Amino acid sequence: MKDILTELEDRRNDARLGGGQRRIDAQHARGKLTARERIELLLDEDSFEEFDMFVAHRCVDFGMENQKHAGDGVITGWGTINGRMVYVFSQDFTVFGGSLSETHAQKICKIQDMAIQNGAPIIGLNDSGGARIQEGVDSLAGYAEVFQRNIMASGVVPQISVIMGPCAGGAVYSPAMTDFIFMVKDTSYMFVTGPDVVKTVTNEVVTAEELGGASTHTKKSSVADGAFENDVEALAEVRRLVDFLPLNNREKPPVRPFFDEPGRIENSLDTIVPENPNTPYDMKELIAKVADEGDFYEIQKDYAKNIITGFIRLEGQTVGVVANQPMVLAGCLDIDSSRKAARFVRFCDCFEIPIMTLVDVPGFLPGTSQEYGGVIKHGAKLLFAYGEATVPKVTVITRKAYGGAYDVMASKHLRGDFNYAWPTAEIAVMGAKGATEIIHRADLGDADKIAAHAADYEARFANPFVAAERGFIDEVIMPHSTRRRVSRAFASLRNKQLKNPWKKHDNIPL
Ligand code: HXC
Repeated sequence: MKDILTELEDRRNDARLGGGQRRIDAQHARGKLTARERIELLLDEDSFEEFDMFVAHRCVDFGMENQKHAGDGVITGWGTINGRMVYVFSQDFTVFGGSLSETHAQKICKIQDMAIQNGAPIIGLNDSGGARIQEGVDSLAGYAEVFQRNIMASGVVPQISVIMGPCAGGAVYSPAMTDFIFMVKDTSYMFVTGPDVVKTVTNEVVTAEELGGASTHTKKSSVADGAFENDVEALAEVRRLVDFLPLNNREKPPVRPFFDEPGRIENSLDTIVPENPNTPYDMKELIAKVADEGDFYEIQKDYAKNIITGFIRLEGQTVGVVANQPMVLAGCLDIDSSRKAARFVRFCDCFEIPIMTLVDVPGFLPGTSQEYGGVIKHGAKLLFAYGEATVPKVTVITRKAYGGAYDVMASKHLRGDFNYAWPTAEIAVMGAKGATEIIHRADLGDADKIAAHAADYEARFANPFVAAERGFIDEVIMPHSTRRRVSRAFASLRNKQLKNPWKKHDNIPL
């Protein structure tokens, strides 16, 4: 008996060494943690339960029968984050560069299936050279099996990908189908075709970092939702995110203790909107002042900064925030911001996270680049996402709500539950100047007349009261009481029931 116990321990120790000490040292020398160290940091202490520690590949080509490592390049299992269950896979770069073999894929599929059945998030820590070259089509088949499960899990359990090394070729499509992608600066990259192929095909010379590093994907492509300095920070931030999310689509997000008075008055908000309607102010200040303890978890903070997306808590409960940012492009909606916010709204809706929308939007960004780029279809994504969402929706218009953008930003007409406006709100088809120049074109040569018309238009429309008279605004509220009003609104919506008509699925303009 003792020998068998010793053998188990020996085998475990061997598996824990992955590709061996030399390769572990190389991993560390690059500033990267090993697959196991990452799991330890991600999960609560001693909570990890491993599956398939002894799984080995079955390849007999290229001398592979003589090169086997227990676990086959990926560590899988489940554990807890602040006491709540999650499934994890962590690719081990020290074993064949973390490349994906048939058996490696089967291990990932096993935990994906379990996560869907048992209703817990899946977190993938990616660090892989892609398809296990020695296994050919078996590896490709393995990827497709993983992809299929990503699709089935979508909207059922939250899926989070952390890119902590290479992620290239078709391998990128598994993270791409998950809800959130985070990258580690300087040590991770993602691309469909690497710099060498790019050079051969297009003659472009580009580094891996330029082509698919964290900066590229958080600022230019919007493939990634956030970038962190190192493995430790990335894993800590994933823990923080998981705390905002429900375990699956049938559960509510966790309620955390809060130490912030829901009725807290913020007098500074009474003066946050500048006198001049063209002067910007920082919408993030409002978000922080509304949130419990000022805590805001921003998603895609470096992309399409004219719209802000992320999570806060109100009375300890998760709320998704979408807010126009007057500091960037005057808060206009455009292609990028519409796509960014639409995806966020849909995430919130599929996981029953209520949405707070803060509106200060002068309209859609005009121009050929927007029209040629399909702003009609992309803008429609956000409109569609808000209109189909059945979660509680509370909207506060702080200043401008002009034109189609007024409708889009969770208006009453898109089933907004509480639509508030500050007294500074201007709800109109467009700004006074533009409106006057169209409806009083005959007076364009007479500056005094135009100024008088503009003043008249402003007096009549640059306020929230016309909309309030029609019931499109439920209440004009004092800015200083925004946290109290919004918290009470969400509290009153906790048992909201709203169902869309039966359909197989919708046909959102993609
Ligand atoms: C098998 C691999 C491997 C792979 C790396 N290794 N990638 N083994 N299949 N895909 C092994 C190496 O042989 C080496 O083994 C160890 O992992 C570390 O690799 P190095 O090259 O020494 O590391 P590094 O210099 O850091 O370079 C990492 C790398 C490079 C950039 C990822 O290894 C690389 O280019 N690999 C090939 C990438 C690739 O073309 N993959 C296929 C993409 S197509 P030893 O024994 O020396 O430690 C694809 C299609 C998916 O993935 C389709 C899905 C639909």
